Amino acid sequence: MKTIFSGVQPTGTVTLGNYIGAIKQFTELQNDFDCRFCIVDQHAITVQQDPDELSKTIRSLAAIYIASGIDPEKSTLFIQSEVPAHAQAGWMMQCISYIGELERMTQFKDKSEGKEGVSAALLTYPPLMAADILIYNTHVVPVGEDQKQHVELTRDLAERFNKRYGNVLTIPEIRIPKVGARIKSLQDPLKKMSKSDPNKKGTVAILDTPKEIEKKVKSAVTDSDGIVKFDETNKPGVSNLLTIESALSGILIPDLEVKYEGLGYGAFKAGVAEAIIGHLTPIQERYADLLNSSELDVHLDRGAEKANKIATATLKKMESAMGI
Ligand code: ADP
Ligand code: NA
Repeated sequence: MKTIFSGVQPTGTVTLGNYIGAIKQFTELQNDFDCRFCIVDQHAITVQQDPDELSKTIRSLAAIYIASGIDPEKSTLFIQSEVPAHAQAGWMMQCISYIGELERMTQFKDKSEGKEGVSAALLTYPPLMAADILIYNTHVVPVGEDQKQHVELTRDLAERFNKRYGNVLTIPEIRIPKVGARIKSLQDPLKKMSKSDPNKKGTVAILDTPKEIEKKVKSAVTDSDGIVKFDETNKPGVSNLLTIESALSGILIPDLEVKYEGLGYGAFKAGVAEAIIGHLTPIQERYADLLNSSELDVHLDRGAEKANKIATATLKKMESAMGI
């Protein structure tokens, strides 16, 4: 069976972008692949975090994964820092990375530009992400579009390693969803919806209440022509809302255009909000139950145990190939 690896950072609140671009894909892949889904807490600390907040967010993310449909019996669900091979193999990946190629990563440029006191780890985050993927002999990496460049670097590093030290690492493929690879901010439909966006009005969180969702969708930036039509260049706001409803409902965008023909943006936004609320309500109910149970910690312990076995075996091969 082919293997999958992907991760989400435990920072801020999980957004509809994370859900549509990543987590929803994960749940759909579980039956056909051997899946490893990770809470990448070591990536979260590349920027300063409040310790109490971070440990809460880690547990909350685990509950969101399971509530969204990740079956911890089928998939391996675990916390990155509980598997030391990530950091160990991450160091090896740093050793074969070039500073220049890391400085060219757009996410590094975005997160470091104009800032003082940029951590070294913000630059070396992609080699750690490469290690995350490669130590599980991953065939496929399901992610949103913003991670494409990092997965491409992962492939380059794996090829470089294999060329220098022998055929040890599997070269992974990227998998980006057909609809919803880049969900945009509701307030600025040219920008991606992001956990770290300080403008919370533009971000729908997985745990937002129905009222909050209605309010945010209602005030989403659109345009003034009142026509519900998919056109990313001229109508980015409307196209983003159509993408969200399509991704959540499974209804094709042309069929949604027919559904809203002649109805105007008020009815359109109400329909989109309804689709989001309808999809998230059962997830939120399961989430609340999980967060209060000890079941969650049992799953994470078991996940770490399973992940450690696979990751350690690959790490050993990498080390002996390198001669250490
Ligand atoms: P964020 O970028 O929100 O901080 P992460 O870096 O933890 O989130 O990304 C987790 C996953 O969510 C990745 O696969 C990423 O590509 C995906 N993702 C993040 N934002 C979006 C978005 N706006 N649309 C689609 N996918 C996204
Ligand atoms: Na991201």
